[in-house]
Amino acid sequence: MARMKKRISILGSTGSVGSQTLDVIRQFPDEFEVVGLSAGKNIGKLAKQVEEFAPRYFSSIDDSMSEIGSAKRLSITDLATHPEIDFVMHATAGFDGLPLACAALREGKAVGLSNKESIVMAGAHLKRIADDNGGTILPIDSEPSALWQCVIGEKSRPKRYIITASGGAFRDKTPDELANVTPEEALNHPTWTMGKKITIDSATLMNKAFEVMETASLFDSSFDEIDVVIHRQSIVHSLVEMSDGSIKAQLSHHDMRHPIQFALFYPERRLNDDLPTFDLLEASELTFEAMDPSKYPCFDLAMKYARIGGTYNAVLVGADEAAVDLFLARKIRFTDIAHEIKTTVKAHDNQLDFTVEDAIKAAQWAYDTTYTRHITR
Ligand SMILES: NC(=O)c1ccc[n+]([C@@H]2O[C@H](COP(=O)([O-])OP(=O)(O)OC[C@H]3O[C@@H](n4cnc5c(N)ncnc54)[C@H](OP(=O)(O)O)[C@@H]3O)[C@@H](O)[C@H]2O)c1
Repeated sequence: MARMKKRISILGSTGSVGSQTLDVIRQFPDEFEVVGLSAGKNIGKLAKQVEEFAPRYFSSIDDSMSEIGSAKRLSITDLATHPEIDFVMHATAGFDGLPLACAALREGKAVGLSNKESIVMAGAHLKRIADDNGGTILPIDSEPSALWQCVIGEKSRPKRYIITASGGAFRDKTPDELANVTPEEALNHPTWTMGKKITIDSATLMNKAFEVMETASLFDSSFDEIDVVIHRQSIVHSLVEMSDGSIKAQLSHHDMRHPIQFALFYPERRLNDDLPTFDLLEASELTFEAMDPSKYPCFDLAMKYARIGGTYNAVLVGADEAAVDLFLARKIRFTDIAHEIKTTVKAHDNQLDFTVEDAIKAAQWAYDTTYTRHITR
């Protein structure tokens, strides 16, 4: 008997992770039915995707069209919750993603959670919503995906979670040299090709702080059990150290289609000739270095407030999003990003006991406070 196709919607299909999800799906036409695609503003790219994958529904910020071909417009929330959808790939960028993650999990969907902002802001809430409603969170971010792949089959908890970081675009610059770097330089990531926000967050290592927070939520671990090491080659995506001292690592080329495909087919693995294979014998050396905290003030700042928790997490997300927008718009320098976030976090009245709505409000407050403070100066 023919297997039922997995019915999927992709929130953020025109972005880096969204497009790579479609690259994987393209290789498995008998396994997936693309039911919904959702863009922000890039209607041209969305129209091409609709033409190729023939979804029944689409959504976009631009609401000028009610139909694209035979696809009908729905809201992005409808694409996260629609009864004809089994798997939601959540690949929008930014704190707007939290309500969508909640909505999909409330409807018991399997959610490929690439939108890391939502788990950073309200990880415990998302897990509870998933547990209460039969939803599943499948990590897409390469580091949590690597940790997940390492712990599968283990009956004991790891002693340590070791997250690797490429070090971002400026890993070889001194703190003094960072003052005058441009957005173009910051967007030139040494190993990964990603959306703008996460690429800047990789240069400040804010992205790594978010991954530590994501790991703590997903694996119920304390921050003291999580280490970060600089690994320039981005081949070892993360490691776990077990109680007997054995270390397990997950390796592959730095290509997001690997963790995306793992989540799409979990618990199975499939041959995809389109994915690059990694040959140990052809590999250059794999190196691991301690992180120099003087180069990455955002990381220390974020971890200081993440250890307190509450709505500070959402404020870090919102303030960082505004600071990155300001840097990309050339309104602040790269080295101002940490200062802008710190000023906003210090002004926040933290709520340790908070709801999802509180987290969304806190992130919006932090975004507006950071952005407005600067442009009205
Ligand atoms: N890229 C990676 O390799 C990677 C790796 C790990 C984790 N992540 C995480 O995955 C998420 C997506 O990252 P990305 O790099 O794929 O981002 P991206 O390339 O910037 O794509 C973002 C997507 O969201 C859409 N979008 C933007 N604003 C929207 C809005 N208000 N409503 C609905 N859709 C909106 C964009 O649409 P338009 O382009 O049409 O405007 C685009 O499709 C982020 O949370 C990031 O941290 C990414």
